[in-house]
Amino acid sequence: MRATLSAVKASEARLAELLGALSLACDVAIGFPPEKVMRTCVLATELGRRHGLEAEALRDVYYTGLLTYAGCTAFAHEISRVSGGDDIATLNLMIFLDPDDPLEMMRAIVTRLGAGRGFRGRIGTVARALAAGKSMGPSHAYAICEVATSMAGLVGMSRNVCDAVTQMCERWDGTGAPHATAGEALLLPIRIANIAHIAEIAHHRHGRAAARAVIEKRAGGQFDPSIASTFVREADAIFDAVEGESLWERFLEIEPRPHAIATEARVDDVALAFAQIADLKSVWTLGHSVGVARIADAAGEALRLPEAERKLLHRAALLHDIGRLSAPNRVWDKPGKLSPSEWELVRLHTYWTERVLSQTAFLRDAAAVAAAAHERLDGAGYHRAVPGGLLGRPARILAAADAYHAMREARPHRPALDASAAAEILAGEVASGRLDREAVAAVLDVAGAASSRPARVAWPRGLTDREVEVLRLLARGNSTKEIASALGISPRTAQHHIIHIYRKIDRNSRAGAALFATEHGLLDVVG
Ligand SMILES: [Fe+2]
Repeated sequence: MRATLSAVKASEARLAELLGALSLACDVAIGFPPEKVMRTCVLATELGRRHGLEAEALRDVYYTGLLTYAGCTAFAHEISRVSGGDDIATLNLMIFLDPDDPLEMMRAIVTRLGAGRGFRGRIGTVARALAAGKSMGPSHAYAICEVATSMAGLVGMSRNVCDAVTQMCERWDGTGAPHATAGEALLLPIRIANIAHIAEIAHHRHGRAAARAVIEKRAGGQFDPSIASTFVREADAIFDAVEGESLWERFLEIEPRPHAIATEARVDDVALAFAQIADLKSVWTLGHSVGVARIADAAGEALRLPEAERKLLHRAALLHDIGRLSAPNRVWDKPGKLSPSEWELVRLHTYWTERVLSQTAFLRDAAAVAAAAHERLDGAGYHRAVPGGLLGRPARILAAADAYHAMREARPHRPALDASAAAEILAGEVASGRLDREAVAAVLDVAGAASSRPARVAWPRGLTDREVEVLRLLARGNSTKEIASALGISPRTAQHHIIHIYRKIDRNSRAGAALFATEHGLLDVVG
């Protein structure tokens, strides 16, 4: 654990508290009721303890359980493409499927996929999912693992936890992905967390007996039989831990001591990690939250905000779109007009941002600012429609930075706007009393300065100009054929570039490539 370990003081943030709160976003991203991730973490820790683990080893189990879903948006785009935009429902279905039971798998896919789409739509969705399923397995596993391990590293986890989360799609019998790692080669924390993960779903849906039965059934296949046997033997005592009144308190209480403390810098790292998870949700928003934070930071500095407000603004800007995980990608990726019910999901995303961040006192002030990103001074914004008098300077700056950055990015229904068109629209918003004059002026000022930065002299990892072009298209979810057509090259040449790019950047998935491109500023639209 690279995060500081010590006795917690009232003014300090516990790392578990931050990650637990933000894990609520991962719950909704996979269509589970709130606290799914935290219940998994508690079950894993209880199971680990009853399997004889102590201290350091148990801490690794706790944090592996907590970070199991950090890759929850890694292939939202790909899932969305094969499921008619229902990435959340499809992920929710896939996550519990047992490949050792093809009949049950088929029944679940046929009865649950494409619900509400009519007979033809449903058949199409099921057919696409089945056709894609086989080839997507390993690439999904790469994507989940690359994102999860990257996030685990960013929030300060030990090497053991970072390595454990890369094995979350592996199985005890060696038929998992992406490396078919088997048996004792699987790290102990993930062997435990994977049992807790499936047990939690079965328990939540069908109760203790069903959970015990599913773990027993999958022992020796998906799960380490020895740990599965501990689980089955101790199941009642283990479930007692998640059936009490307050899961939140139990979750915090069960963290092995000494508790991990997040320094100020670490809190910012955690915010950055979840900003990246939020931005990965749709290929249209890659780099969005990080870009908004960069503009908001510079605008806050230009306006000489007090340091405490600047810190608040930075975290709120990074986390303002975490609530996007609550809506399926058919909403975010829709090229046409949104229906009233889809609009409702859009309006609710800031509610979810507020709900998630408010879970912990350490982020409560940031929650209020982040959730106000779409409020307007005339009271016609969402989700609270608060009047301008209640919006402080950080909220006003965030609203302006978010609006400007979003306009400079392409969206499914329009191309990216150039700087002067975006500035003109923002000026109109000021004139109509919707955005703050001072905040908009500062945002336009700093965004202009950022875009006149000196040209880059070399690409990272020796990437060529052409490879960067391919990488950008790849990160945005284009297929090999689409990349070839966009660049006027043959699919074979495009494939050749993709292989070289993966090798150079040491990633194996579209999501991993997207993270790399974001981290190195290769997708920047503003500065
Ligand atoms: Fe945003």
